[in-house]
Amino acid sequence: MIGRLNHLAIAVPDLESAADQYRNALGAKVGEPQDEPDHGVTVIFIELPNTKIELLYPLGENSPITSFLEKNPSGGMHHVCYEVDDIIVARDHLVQTGARVLGNGAPKIGAHGKPVLFLHPKDFNGCLVELEQV
Ligand code: CO
Repeated sequence: MIGRLNHLAIAVPDLESAADQYRNALGAKVGEPQDEPDHGVTVIFIELPNTKIELLYPLGENSPITSFLEKNPSGGMHHVCYEVDDIIVARDHLVQTGARVLGNGAPKIGAHGKPVLFLHPKDFNGCLVELEQV
């Protein structure tokens, strides 16, 4: 059911310095910061030949990234994003297998303008999973 790895997301305590590191030390193609108020994050996408890296930084007062950074002050791997053809079919199948969808279960529009959902990390070996319909 799942397709390609769309991106790996890393929560960072300093967005500019993380972007500089990917740009200068790692020589990657680094995008511009984008505010995603619906998700409580500012993101920077880094394009790699086979996938993307999403740098995440808290935006606003109720950002889900704030508590993550309190537990992981130097930053850390936050989620993996897999592509699916039909997010509703994928969600309904996963719910049948016992997986929990975060929030109200309805897809939100993600950073690429496409529908996304998040699956509970406790149901996926401690890894927060994002599904993106492509
Ligand atoms: Co993501």
